[in-house]
Amino acid sequence: MTKLRVVTPEELTQKEIRTLFSLTLRGWSELRYRFHKVVSYLRERDIPGRIKEINATIILAEADDKISGWAMLEWDGSSCFLQMNVRTSCRRFGIGTMLVNEAIDICKKKHHRKPTVEAWDIRSEKFYKKFGNKLEITYYSFY
Ligand SMILES: CC(C)(COP(=O)(O)OP(=O)(O)OC[C@H]1O[C@@H](n2cnc3c(N)ncnc32)[C@H](O)[C@@H]1OP(=O)(O)O)[C@@H](O)C(=O)NCCC(=O)NCCS
Repeated sequence: MTKLRVVTPEELTQKEIRTLFSLTLRGWSELRYRFHKVVSYLRERDIPGRIKEINATIILAEADDKISGWAMLEWDGSSCFLQMNVRTSCRRFGIGTMLVNEAIDICKKKHHRKPTVEAWDIRSEKFYKKFGNKLEITYYSFY
């Protein structure tokens, strides 16, 4: 059975960080880019002049101690950006829906906002539209 675990970036182990990177799209990916920024912050936060604070929440979907999908919420002071990825072999089993519902709850409680998502293909647009007005949907410029 899939369970969700909500953690701060600081709570992630090195092994989990490697797994999360592997669960991003290769090449250009907003999630990969944003997670890279978070990991850089973890490595460099004690160095003077580097990023001092990052407001990110990670939601892990796990079954039998294996991560089957994950989402990252990042608060920039006015918007709460949500990106996610579900392991290819685990898609269409409702994991993406669990992650989004949890993200909606967290955003509401912590920031009184809805998550902002970016649809970048027909599949993600159809997926996000299922949540109606609980999400702020933007569209990737080349889509
Ligand atoms: C988009 C994504 C997160 C969906 O995760 P998931 O676990 O498969 O989602 P669910 O099983 O909860 O699907 C819920 C619904 O979304 C829609 N959906 C999901 N994948 C779809 C696909 N490939 N084609 C069409 N509709 C799809 C369907 O309506 C589906 O309901 P159904 O299975 O009853 O038809 C997953 O496909 C993914 O990680 N894609 C690659 C990364 C990505 O696109 N991330 C989003 C942008 S950051």
